[in-house]
Amino acid sequence: MESIQILDAKKHVGETVQIGAWVANKRSSGKIAFIQLRDGTAYFQGIVVKSEVGEEVFQLAKNLNQETAVLVTGEIREDSRSKFGYEIGISGLEVVGESHDYPITPKEHGTDFLMDHRHLWLRSSKQHAIMQIRNEIIRATYEFFNKNGFIKIDPPILTGSAPEGTTDLFETNYFDQKAYLSQSGQLYMEAAAMAFGKVFSFGPTFRAEKSKTRRHLIEFWMIEPEMAFMHQEESLEVQEQYVAFLVQNVLDNCDYALDVLGRDREVLKKYTKLPFPRISYDDAVELLQKNGFDDIQWGDDFGSPHETFIANSFDQPVFILNYPKAIKPFYMKPHPTREDVVICADMIAPEGYGEIIGGSERAIDHEYLLEQIRAHGLDENEYSWYLDLRKYGSVPHTGFGLGLERTVTWLSGIEHVRESIPFPRLLNRIYP
Ligand code: 4AD
Ligand code: MG
Repeated sequence: MESIQILDAKKHVGETVQIGAWVANKRSSGKIAFIQLRDGTAYFQGIVVKSEVGEEVFQLAKNLNQETAVLVTGEIREDSRSKFGYEIGISGLEVVGESHDYPITPKEHGTDFLMDHRHLWLRSSKQHAIMQIRNEIIRATYEFFNKNGFIKIDPPILTGSAPEGTTDLFETNYFDQKAYLSQSGQLYMEAAAMAFGKVFSFGPTFRAEKSKTRRHLIEFWMIEPEMAFMHQEESLEVQEQYVAFLVQNVLDNCDYALDVLGRDREVLKKYTKLPFPRISYDDAVELLQKNGFDDIQWGDDFGSPHETFIANSFDQPVFILNYPKAIKPFYMKPHPTREDVVICADMIAPEGYGEIIGGSERAIDHEYLLEQIRAHGLDENEYSWYLDLRKYGSVPHTGFGLGLERTVTWLSGIEHVRESIPFPRLLNRIYP
């Protein structure tokens, strides 16, 4: 008899198979028991009929506790009434690992309780669906960049140079020097682009931000492509193609997860249409002011209500172009005809999910960069290696960073970024 994963049920209809699973829930009458099972790949129903299995197996089935691990044997059948579409008619049942008083019961629990039990909460169907969407976005990311001629380069996690400002760094001892946990791999990816042309990274990044919002994590994962001999407009095209590709792959490959999450496919389909709209920072400020946002002046950074309003003015993700130089990092390319803005873009997701991509063309002039590093109060010695890139064959180049968790949150249609990563690191939360 073959051991299978229930996700492959389609290939085994009518066959008797064995599946290792956990008990999610159950209900029974005097003659029949319905056991909700999960085997890690999906949730499905097992049916135990007393007259078929005998008194002993039936009693065992009736008394299973939530999260008991079992080996079930039985025939795979189509089950048109369930979301999943298949069930198993159980003929044999063996307990592998007992479970008593599982803390997460089918009743509602508060968020703090669930976060404290994240190591168990991950087993529930909604969390399971979100992690499948996360996995698909990661898979599709590799596919997209590999097929477009990028190579993956891994920047270091322990670093001496901070690209995104010095206020939110995690500092640590590095023997007798100081080091920081990486905020972004960008500076290293710029070096890699000069070595390999088109590169991308995918790794964890850390920000000691005292932000307690539904969009902020302390530890999050970022995808950072960097492209030599490319200007900003070409980068925007890569960005919109990449994001549309992610949406399309989630639509194509995450049917079950989208059903569990109740995510409307028609809404997602709109995000596969190209191009995405573009609006300048200047026009975005004007749009906000015309619509009663008195709190925004030219020069201010946007907060989440502003981003949400701008996003709601469009049907797709929107690029906001060319922000004020004063609110952006030191490395962005200055505008050719204006002193006050830089060549950059943020991509804002629809439906109030906020900024999912930040990117820019990079300054390539050695003197300009040195001046900026000093103006930002950074130690030029820590950046001397980066400045080298502008001495030996400096070329136009551009790149961006996509926040994985914000993208997962958006495509899953969930409220809060904390559910988009297996073990979220939040302000004041490092367990489990
Ligand atoms: O806009 P950010 O700070 O850009 C950079 O780090 C650039 N160095 C990227 C580059 O050009 N290579 O961050 C990029 C993205 C944001 O758009 C957002 O999606 C995500 O990273 N992000 C966060 N996600 C969750 N929690 C946080 N605290 C985040 N901060 C940024
Ligand atoms: Mg940003």
